[in-house]
Amino acid sequence: MAIGILLICSFTVEGQNSNETKMDNFINALMKKMTLNEKIGQLNLVTPGGAVTGSVVSKDVDTKIRNGQVGGLFGITGPDKIRRAQEIAVKNSRLHIPLIFGLDVIHGHRTIFPIPLGLSASWDTSLIKRSARIAANEATADGLNWVFSPMVDIARDPRWGRIAEGSGEDAFLGSQIAKAMVDGYQENYLSKDSTVMACVKHYALYGASEAGRDYNTVDMSKVRMYNEYLPPYKAAVDAGVGSVMSSFNTVDGIPASANRFLLTDVLRKQWGFRGLVVSDYTSISEMINHGLGDLQTVSAKSLNAGMDMDMVSEGFLTTLEESLKQGKVSLKTIDEACRKVLEAKYKLGLFDDPYRYCNEEKFKTELMSEANLKAAREIAERCFVLLKNDNNLLPLKKSGTIALIGPLADNKRNMLGTWSVSGDPQKSVTIMQGIKNVAGNDVNILYAKGANISEDTMLIKRVNVFGTEIDVDSRTPEEMINEAVETANKADVVVAVLGEAADMTGESSSMTHIGLQLSQENLLKALVKTGKPVVLVLMNGRPMTLTWEDAHVPAILDTWFGGTEAGNAVADVLFGNYNPSGKLTASFPRNVGQIPVYYNHLNTGRPFHPGDSPKFKSDYLDVANTPLYPFGYGLSYTTFSYSDISLSNKILKAGGKITASVNVTNTGTRKGKETVQLYTRQLVGSIARPVKELKGFQQIILEPGETKKVTFLISVDDLKFYNSDLKYVYEPGPFKLFIGTNSADVKEADFELK
Ligand code: BGC
Repeated sequence: MAIGILLICSFTVEGQNSNETKMDNFINALMKKMTLNEKIGQLNLVTPGGAVTGSVVSKDVDTKIRNGQVGGLFGITGPDKIRRAQEIAVKNSRLHIPLIFGLDVIHGHRTIFPIPLGLSASWDTSLIKRSARIAANEATADGLNWVFSPMVDIARDPRWGRIAEGSGEDAFLGSQIAKAMVDGYQENYLSKDSTVMACVKHYALYGASEAGRDYNTVDMSKVRMYNEYLPPYKAAVDAGVGSVMSSFNTVDGIPASANRFLLTDVLRKQWGFRGLVVSDYTSISEMINHGLGDLQTVSAKSLNAGMDMDMVSEGFLTTLEESLKQGKVSLKTIDEACRKVLEAKYKLGLFDDPYRYCNEEKFKTELMSEANLKAAREIAERCFVLLKNDNNLLPLKKSGTIALIGPLADNKRNMLGTWSVSGDPQKSVTIMQGIKNVAGNDVNILYAKGANISEDTMLIKRVNVFGTEIDVDSRTPEEMINEAVETANKADVVVAVLGEAADMTGESSSMTHIGLQLSQENLLKALVKTGKPVVLVLMNGRPMTLTWEDAHVPAILDTWFGGTEAGNAVADVLFGNYNPSGKLTASFPRNVGQIPVYYNHLNTGRPFHPGDSPKFKSDYLDVANTPLYPFGYGLSYTTFSYSDISLSNKILKAGGKITASVNVTNTGTRKGKETVQLYTRQLVGSIARPVKELKGFQQIILEPGETKKVTFLISVDDLKFYNSDLKYVYEPGPFKLFIGTNSADVKEADFELK
């Protein structure tokens, strides 16, 4: 039996006062009964294996649960398994305190949606929220009540494999998406049996690891931190996220998991976060390797910095008692951490009903339901980005012969992308299957694999750690290319499905070469040489370098990893059932040497005048400063034209507002969706300010020939930033305002802030 069946059915995230008082009373009473060891036990988060997401697996989990040495579990799913583990805690531990059950539910649970970078390319926050809602429905039907998502790390370095898991390079867009995800998971009502506690991660600045190498050092100015990297975490906190996960990296030399500035000063004091802070996987014990001391020392440092729960390190479990005796931590700090864990359980309704999330009926009906799969297809369609489409090669006609070529064209294993721990790739729809489903009987499809994803044996070994994602054909590369060329020669059009294997991005999947692997590059060159029109369908988890492709391939569609229904969704777009509307949320560099390349950079002083001598410029001798495809970029099967901007007033007064409007016209022949983007630039400031900053966006759907007026409201609050004293201020002076179809192609106007 659970301790005390309480009347707490309707605890909301915002927490009404009476509920808070009830919760406090309940937890005070419970904590009075707890021994020191039981309190420390609550701080221990373990994984018994199952979905393996780190290199250490916890031992003797059942015994520890019985002994009151475990606060939560992650890695297992299924109402039966979870009920069994919960029963041990609730029936056999001295105080019957229930466990929380977490998992990495990142872009869907069993029904997998596009990778987060892909989802962000929809720029559609209600769509993204819907994906999180469905994920929460499935996760709770599978026994879970805690998801390690959203991942909101701003990333400007596509070498970093985890760029796939976030929303790209922009803090404004990233913040909107962070909020949408939290709302989708939690619905402001944690104790419902269909909501989960979200966990925003990886706090903080994990995406800025040096050289794009995972887990690497982060060092950045406070001004950049506050303006460009922290906002999405804060947005999640403001949206009421229940928990925060610390990151692996150091910030100012101190690993995030023991960084008091991050965990207490910013998170608790400045942002007022009142939920649970959990470490990342063994990030506490890893501080030994960072050179911060032995397990006891780093565990004490972490607790003192503001950490509540220790994921897998068991440093809290095994050393805090000793640290308390030696005066290195206080009972008050242990109590505070324990309270946070108990509060999370209380809010989830687990003291009321520890089996709240173990509903066998729901388990049978909710997972991968028809409705969820339908949603996955719709959501995926809206995430693809059309990078190039010369002479309207796309959409394809539903007649004639298509040569479908490439190692990813009929490859279930790689459809889901990284971090789809509960997804079953065998249940995914390949591009080949999708094309068959959508094209109809008048299309003749020929197929050739054409190349292996890679021929690099070292890379293959690393990528295939959890199973064969890159399977190596017994034929030679030449034999495969010859077959592909023969196949292409028999067709009217070639659809080449190329890109990355699922785990060429994601955790610990950084790459220094982010173009197509040589095997695929050779294949693509041979296909282009046939003279047949080639459509390149890319599957990828990062911005890739596509300079050759852009110059030689007439049509390029970026489909990320589109999830369970990717094949159908890709086919819908290829054949024009859906007109592509995705826009990039991370710049695509021309080559690796440009990295980091991002749209909201500062200006330099050079050239001093635009017409100055060709020397003394801030640029490269061998390549342009601009990316190949900029932030916000994405084409449609129709075209849009923008009128000049009309401003309601050229003066914006403190406390006032102005509006900026454009008329957008669909100048093509198909209905289409456009994401209209608003940027501003502060021309003079107390510190140098970015050349552009996204401040708003709106999505409109236009019929051919139709015009819509799009109006943005701009207030002083939109122009605030953190100055050198880290004060959030606005500064009077001249501004530019831009509205356009992407960050590089805009109309502009001037106004003054008085
Ligand atoms: C990852 C986290 C993840 C955790 C639990 C870590 O290795 O960095 O993103 O939530 O494992 O699986």
